[in-house]
Amino acid sequence: MQTVLSGSRPTGLFHLGNYFGAIANYVKMQDDFDNCYFFIADYHSFTTHTDPLVLPQHVKRAMATYLACGLDPNKASVYVQSDVPEIPELYLLLAMFANKGELEKCTTFKEKARQKGQTLNAGLLTYPVLMAADILVHRAHKVPVGKDQMQHLEMARNFAQRFNHHYDTDFLVLPEAFSYTEELIKILSLDGTGSKMSKSDNNVNNAVFLTDTDEAILKKLKKATADAGPQEPNAQKSDAVQGLFNLMQLVSKPETLAEFEAAYNDCSIRYGDLKVQLGKDMVDYVGPIRDKIAELESKPSYLKEVAAAGAETARKSGRETLDGVREIMGINYFA
Ligand code: ADP
Ligand code: TRP
Repeated sequence: MQTVLSGSRPTGLFHLGNYFGAIANYVKMQDDFDNCYFFIADYHSFTTHTDPLVLPQHVKRAMATYLACGLDPNKASVYVQSDVPEIPELYLLLAMFANKGELEKCTTFKEKARQKGQTLNAGLLTYPVLMAADILVHRAHKVPVGKDQMQHLEMARNFAQRFNHHYDTDFLVLPEAFSYTEELIKILSLDGTGSKMSKSDNNVNNAVFLTDTDEAILKKLKKATADAGPQEPNAQKSDAVQGLFNLMQLVSKPETLAEFEAAYNDCSIRYGDLKVQLGKDMVDYVGPIRDKIAELESKPSYLKEVAAAGAETARKSGRETLDGVREIMGINYFA
C-alpha cells in the first residue's frame, strides 16, 4: 500500500498556482491512493513570527480551501500539523541525523540568510528536519510537491537513510516526489514576464486568488499583459500570451481554446476578446470554489470536527512510527 502526504503553509491566500500546481493533484490522489494525508503546516510558519490574531484565520481559511477544492475527509486525513505531537517528537530524534553544514547549504536557508533584517533562528535552519518529520512520521512513499521543494525532499531521504543505516534497519521509508505529469505545472503571473504566479508578488493584480470576487477576476484578466499580436501565421507565442492560453486550457471549454488558437494562428485574434472570454470562464471556474470557501468559513464547528478527525488518524499513524523508532533506538528502558 502506497502512502501519500503533502502540505502547505497557512499563508491565507491561495491562488491559481497553488490550486493547479498542488491542491488539484491532492484531490486526484485521494481517489487513486488508499492512504492519503494532507495537512496545514502551521509550525512551519513560525520561522517568521506570525501574528496570533491573524494565524487562526489563515489556518481556518486553509482548511476551508482544502475542503472547498474537493479534499474529502472520508478519503484522506486532513489535519493541522500542531495537532499531531508525534511530528515534533520525531523532529527531535531526526535532528540527530542532520548535519549543520548541509542545513546551512540548503537553498531556501541561504536565500533567507541573504535577505537583510531576517533573523536566522534555529527553526529556520532546521526547517528541512521538520519537513522530513512531517513526511517520515507516516512513512509516506509519495510526496506531491513542486520543483522548489525537491531539495527538502532529498534531505528527508538522506535523514531517513542515515537512520536506517545507523540502526541497520529499513524501517523508515525513503519518500519520492510525485507528479501526474512529466513536466511540473507552472502557472504564470499575469504580468507577462514569464515568472510564476506567487502570493509573495508585490502586485496582487498579478495573481488570481481563489477568494477573489467576480469583479476582481474580470478586472485582473482585462489588465493582464499580452503583446503586440502575432506578426505572421503560426507564430511562436510570447510568455505573456502563452500564459493566457495556458489558463484558457485549464478553465475554458476545449472548443473555446481551439477557436482562439485558430485565430492566433491566422493572425485574426483580438486579445481583448480572449481576455473577456477567459475572464468569464475563470469566473465560472473560481466562483463556486470561492463561494464554497466562504460557506465553510462560516461553519467553524464543522472545520473543527474535520480537523479533529484528521488529527486522530494522523496521530495513530504517527504513534506507530514513533513506537517503532523508539524501539529501534533503544528508548524502551524498563520493559
Ligand atoms: P507561493 O510561491 O505563492 O508562496 P507556496 O510556496 O506556498 O506558494 O506553494 C504551495 C504549493 O503551490 C507548492 O506545492 C508549489 O509548488 C505550488 N505552487 C505555487 N505557485 C505555483 C505556480 N505559479 N504554479 C504551479 N504551482 C505553484
Ligand atoms: N515546505 C513546503 C512549502 O513551503 C510545505 C511543507 C511542509 C511540505 N512540510 C511538508 C510539503 C511536507 C510536503 C511535505 O511549500
